[in-house]
Amino acid sequence: MPKIYLSAMVISLIPLYFYMRDRFYEDKQLKVIHEKYDKDPSSLSEYEYLAMKSLNPHDKLRPLEHKKYKIYQLMRKEFRRKNLLNGEMFNPTPEELEEWYSKQARFKNSKQKAPLLTNVDKEDKTNEGNQSIIKAEDTTDFYNAKAKEYDDAVKWEERGILMGGKRRWLMSHIRGDVLEVSCGTGRNIPYLSSYIDKVKSITFLDSAPQMVEITRQKFHDAFPKFKKVAFTKGKAEDLLELAGDNENLKYDTIVEAFGLCCHEDPVKALQNMAKLLKPGGRIILLEHGRSKWQFVNNHLDFRSAKRWETWKCRWNLEIGELVDEAGLDITKEKRAHLSTTWMLVLKKPEDPIHQDEKPFLDKLFGKTHKPIEK
Ligand SMILES: C[S@@+](CC[C@H](N)C(=O)[O-])C[C@H]1O[C@@H](n2cnc3c(N)ncnc32)[C@H](O)[C@@H]1O
Repeated sequence: MPKIYLSAMVISLIPLYFYMRDRFYEDKQLKVIHEKYDKDPSSLSEYEYLAMKSLNPHDKLRPLEHKKYKIYQLMRKEFRRKNLLNGEMFNPTPEELEEWYSKQARFKNSKQKAPLLTNVDKEDKTNEGNQSIIKAEDTTDFYNAKAKEYDDAVKWEERGILMGGKRRWLMSHIRGDVLEVSCGTGRNIPYLSSYIDKVKSITFLDSAPQMVEITRQKFHDAFPKFKKVAFTKGKAEDLLELAGDNENLKYDTIVEAFGLCCHEDPVKALQNMAKLLKPGGRIILLEHGRSKWQFVNNHLDFRSAKRWETWKCRWNLEIGELVDEAGLDITKEKRAHLSTTWMLVLKKPEDPIHQDEKPFLDKLFGKTHKPIEK
């Protein structure tokens, strides 16, 4: 009997041995990558750059980089299996990855090309390549007509999925001079009371004037003594024109809830917001979009036309891709509701990250990481 136990134990240790060996090679390679990077950042191959960036707590792989890195990791698994007993390093060129990718049965249904990181093809962009994503339109008239019934129409859906907590999260980030884009009927105002002391001034903007009127009423009812408030009708795509030549019209915080799905040009809207940020300012988003799970995305795609018809809302957008295209960095990301609700804190790439955005261990040991140079 002990012989059986002993052999079972030995057999079960074999996968552990190979797993540890793999980790060992990975660590060894990372050391080499770091040495290479310290000597000359531009000497890294695409794979080395992605591997290094994925481990830097102050950098996040952009959505397309993440997609490509996942494909490299799949190729790496196969490489390790084939090189079980030798310590050869995995460092394929993008062309080798391409060749490997095109031979994989599991990708046969998709396009026979691994995504590129530069000169990205239209089909590699989910928001442009996916036929189920409805073409954007100006939704102002729809929301203007819907303004009076909007709150009643959405309140039960929001209560059912505890959206109040997410709106509180959004409001908890505001400080200084604040701009709320696509304020709608002011559904974030009930969550503002705990944070109003941090607000110097607040401007509410929406393209639908009827929506702005409801926000105005709600705000004055909730904060009758707060005087530094403005209400503006306008499109997020026209923010710069609305701000005019006034260089002082900059904000510490720009917030938006469920607006990108309704914009005619969400990337331009984000780029405009970034231009109106003060140094160190942040854009805080609460949005809905694609999930991390394909079965959920299938459902969003299947129902996208219906959703558009009822709400003029493109609920299957890849939000990360929009942020990426706008050239913004994500400093915090939380996902909820099967990861279809996106809660993001964004900054301009040249802005350093704030103390409270650093990973816990970095805060504890006062460590600083620099973003990876390309
Ligand atoms: C789904 S509602 C969300 C409203 C509100 N933020 C909320 O959380 O309930 C979308 C809002 O975006 C506004 N909107 C649509 N396109 C816009 C644009 N291009 N610029 C500014 N607001 C826009 C609509 O008028 C509407 O009030």
